[in-house]
Amino acid sequence: MNIEKKFIVDIDKLIPRPDIALDVLTKAQNLSCSADDLTEKIEQDPNLTANMLRMANSSYFGHMREISSIRDIIVRLGYDMVKVLAITSASAAILSSPQEAYDLEPRELWNHSQACAILAEIMARNAGLENTYTVYTAALLHDIGKVILNRPLLAACAEKKGCTKFSSIIELEHFMLRTDHALVGQTLLEAWGLPEAITIPVGSHHRGEGQLTTPAGARIVSLANFLVESIGIRATIPDSFIFDVDEFLLQNQNLPEVPNFKPNMTPIMDEFFSRFTGGEMIYA
Ligand SMILES: [Fe+2]
Ligand SMILES: [Fe+2]
Repeated sequence: MNIEKKFIVDIDKLIPRPDIALDVLTKAQNLSCSADDLTEKIEQDPNLTANMLRMANSSYFGHMREISSIRDIIVRLGYDMVKVLAITSASAAILSSPQEAYDLEPRELWNHSQACAILAEIMARNAGLENTYTVYTAALLHDIGKVILNRPLLAACAEKKGCTKFSSIIELEHFMLRTDHALVGQTLLEAWGLPEAITIPVGSHHRGEGQLTTPAGARIVSLANFLVESIGIRATIPDSFIFDVDEFLLQNQNLPEVPNFKPNMTPIMDEFFSRFTGGEMIYA
C-alpha cells in the first residue's frame, strides 16, 4: 500500500463520501440522463437540495428570477451548473471545519477554496477551455488533503516538536509524514471516482507548475492557488483592498503559463474581486 492510501483508510469516518453529489456529477455527464432522473437523485438529500437552492438564488450566481426547485436549476441554469452547485454544496460541509495543523480557523479553508475555485473558473473561461466546471471543482477541492492530514500532522508535530523550522508546508508534511496534502487529496478523489481532469490538478497544485506539458487545468489551479495565497484571502476582502497587477507580475516572473492570462490579468482580477466580495458568501 502506498503511503497516501494509508491516510485514506477509514477516511469515511472523518469525511463522509459525498455520494449524492458524486452521483450527480456522473449522471449529469450523461446527456441522456433526464432532468427528472437528476431531480429525483438530488431530492433524496434534503440538505443538498436546500443548499443548492440557496446557492442558486444567491447573488454570487447572478440576479435572476427566483429559483424555487431543483428542476428549475436544471432547466434554467443547465447541467454544468447543477454539477457546480452539487459539488460546492457537498464541499462546504467538508472544508468549513478548522484545520489546526495548518493554522486555519473555522471557514478559512472554505474561503480559500472558494476563492481559488472562482478565480480558476474565470481563468479557464478566459483561456478558452471547454470544461470550466472541472477546473472549478479541482480548485474547490485542491486542499482537501489538509482535512485528512490535519490530525496526523498535529500528532507528528507534538511528538517531534519541530514544526517551525520548515520553509514551506509541503516540506514540513514530507518531513513529518513522508507525503503531502496535494498527493493525499489526489488519492482520496481518485478513490471517490473523480476523473483525472480533477484529480491531476489537485495532486500537482504545488509542483511542476511552469511546464507546458502540465495540463492547462492543472496550471490554472496552481496559479489560482498561488494568487489567492499571495493576496492572503482568509475571510472576505476589505472594501479598501487594492491589488496592483503590474507590481504582482514584476515580482512573480515565473508564473505557470496560462493562455490569455497575463494580457487579461486586470479584467480577470476585477471579475474575481467583484464575484468574491459582491454577494453573500456560500456557507455550509
Ligand atoms: Fe495546497
Ligand atoms: Fe491552497
